[in-house]
Amino acid sequence: MEIKRVGVVGCGLMGSGIVEVCARAGYDVVVREVDEALLGKGLSRVEGSLRRGVERGKLAASDMEAAGKQIKGTTKLADLGDADLVIEAVIEKMEMKKEVFIELDRLCPPRTIFASNTSSLSITEMASVTKRPAQVLGMHFFNPVPVMKLVELIRGLETSDGTMGAGRAFAESVGKTVVVCKDSPGFIVNLLLVPYLLDAVRALELSIATKEDIDTAVQLGLAHPMGPLTLLDYVGIDTTYYIAEAMFEEFKDARYAAPPLMKKMVLAGLHGRKTGRGFYEHSKTQ
Ligand code: CAA
Repeated sequence: MEIKRVGVVGCGLMGSGIVEVCARAGYDVVVREVDEALLGKGLSRVEGSLRRGVERGKLAASDMEAAGKQIKGTTKLADLGDADLVIEAVIEKMEMKKEVFIELDRLCPPRTIFASNTSSLSITEMASVTKRPAQVLGMHFFNPVPVMKLVELIRGLETSDGTMGAGRAFAESVGKTVVVCKDSPGFIVNLLLVPYLLDAVRALELSIATKEDIDTAVQLGLAHPMGPLTLLDYVGIDTTYYIAEAMFEEFKDARYAAPPLMKKMVLAGLHGRKTGRGFYEHSKTQ
């Protein structure tokens, strides 16, 4: 099946990146946010990133304009009704994702494929609320989406070979390298990443070192582009907390138990870059 028109649900950090890469690859993209304020914020994030792409010499100015024209914003889920593929990138909570898929299942024709950008939740469970479980898959992008080359494709219990094939062709067409994973909490990357990030917070809680020294140790000692606490601020402390909770719920393994400091930071609204403060102070322009 040929994918021409893509719907994206959610224009936050991940949704806006997904919108950008789809538009840059020439797809018509309709993105839905819950209200005009969030939509405006999301679309300006896309614009800003396209501009940065031009500044860094990754994108011609004419391609930036062309990409901009491919994108349409809306607050109505019904406007995604004629998409060939819908990618949801709403908050990492199963109930929210199910609500979106129940509604989309009613609005979209039987041919439409549904993908979730979930980082940890079960694709099979999301697919179970639709009448098209064979056409539901996980398509997990990484932050920052325009820069990170990976997409994890997740096969739910009922996902068909055709859907996996279409998902792979699509992800490759937007310039990504695909790895395939079964429907298991955290898939490949977060299975490995989350315990490491939580351990970094535990190290800080135990005053083993300062936040700066923990980050410098990993950056210079392991050649990671960012230390773990900087990465937590970048990805979102709230997002990582929800991922850890979902993984702990499934595995009941202490490695995935979020440390108390993280919970307190989430409750206090210290979510990292997106709220201006996390482990570090940030300007609110991102
Ligand atoms: N469009 C296209 N290219 C862009 C761009 C844009 N908007 N913005 C930056 N780039 C390019 C730059 O041109 C540069 O490319 P070259 O190396 O070819 O010159 C590259 O991206 C890096 O950009 P910068 O030099 O501006 O930035 P940097 O060197 O400081 O790197 C970073 C920034 C890419 C974020 C880097 O710090 C990094 O890789 N950090 C780790 C990110 C990471 O681990 N992400 C995964 C998080 S986990 C996740 O997302 C999943 C989950 O479920 C939680």
